[in-house]
Amino acid sequence: MARVLLGVTGGIAAYKACELCRLLVRARHDVVPLLTPGAERFVTAQTFRALARRPAAEDVYLHLTRADLLVVAPLTANTLAKFAHGIADNVLTEAALAHRGPMLVAPAMNPRMWSHPATRTNVEALRARGVELVGPDEGETAEGELGVGRMAEPGEIFERAQELLGGKSVLKGKSVLVSAGGTREPIDAVRFVGNRSSGRMGVALAAEAARRGARVTLLGANLAVAHPAGVEVVETPSAADLEREALARGADADVVVMAAAVADYRPAGALTGKRPKDRATWTVELEPTTDVLALLGATRTEGTVLVGFAADRGETGLERARAKLRDKGADLFVFNDVARTDIGFDAADNEITLLGADGERTIAKAPKEEIAAAVLDEVEGLLGR
Ligand SMILES: Cc1cc2nc3c(=O)[nH]c(=O)nc-3n(C[C@H](O)[C@H](O)[C@H](O)COP(=O)(O)O)c2cc1C
Repeated sequence: MARVLLGVTGGIAAYKACELCRLLVRARHDVVPLLTPGAERFVTAQTFRALARRPAAEDVYLHLTRADLLVVAPLTANTLAKFAHGIADNVLTEAALAHRGPMLVAPAMNPRMWSHPATRTNVEALRARGVELVGPDEGETAEGELGVGRMAEPGEIFERAQELLGGKSVLKGKSVLVSAGGTREPIDAVRFVGNRSSGRMGVALAAEAARRGARVTLLGANLAVAHPAGVEVVETPSAADLEREALARGADADVVVMAAAVADYRPAGALTGKRPKDRATWTVELEPTTDVLALLGATRTEGTVLVGFAADRGETGLERARAKLRDKGADLFVFNDVARTDIGFDAADNEITLLGADGERTIAKAPKEEIAAAVLDEVEGLLGR
């Protein structure tokens, strides 16, 4: 988790900063909104306090808050000029002078204001000081003029902010192997035995690790969700595929997160063709598959952090997860209770218990992206040891 100062200035695009604030909070950053009086003509400080989950009464020295990153979106021509000249006449411009560390700004203004020589000179002054600009983009402005001046999209600003903050993550440059989805074990050429995993949790973990600067390989077993950006995806539809790829790649990875629901049993002697329909009963015999996690645990390289997932039911399921942590040689186990319908399999949210050598910790129900960040915070702690 990092602390981010979010500056908002007085332009129409100020409403878009609400979305940026939400994305930063969702990524578990401590966001400190700093609105200029000009911004408050467009949006309220209360909206941002609510989004950032901050108390109403702030410190009188708010402008001196130490932070890992200062993001200003939108940045008006006026505040841009103030930054260029070191003027400190409101909480944001004061904070910008006091801030030490990366600064990311998303200018937004009328195209004629953006191309004015005064603005050009001010932009160059900021760039020379290492301030990073995202946008502005070309397009139609709110007042209906065409040209360069539109604020970059909140998602793009967020991605860049995450990259800049990635410099602080222990995962930066590390190689991370994540498995996601549910394997399908063929009965014949067209039928299979499968499970309800969508791959959402594993994909969220892969995306979060990539955001933190890791080199991520995702072993995808029949993913029902889109592939995350910046991640190498290797298709592993069956337990045998996943076993082969996990063993081939696991030894070289710094972190292995086995989030996929790998079949425990597969049909013995799957038919190569399609069995035609007839009236006879079809008995399928199931044989156990390899326990990939236990094998990874037994053969792992020194220093690798190994994370297992246990989707089980209720208190007895949690007991079984505790036993798995002991028996499988993993550093961390993530238990989620699949007896509940609002979390876990194919749901957008999850609620987990993290089990490690140091004890147990429950992460309250939250979107899987936030849960992924909590799991990786724990992994970072283990890597840092
Ligand atoms: C409707 C309206 C929209 C505005 N949009 C912008 C804008 O997108 N970019 C900009 O630089 N200034 C814009 N301005 C002008 C700024 O609000 C003005 O320069 C103000 O002093 C900026 O204050 P601040 O930089 O302290 O927030 C707009 C003004 C109005 C009335």
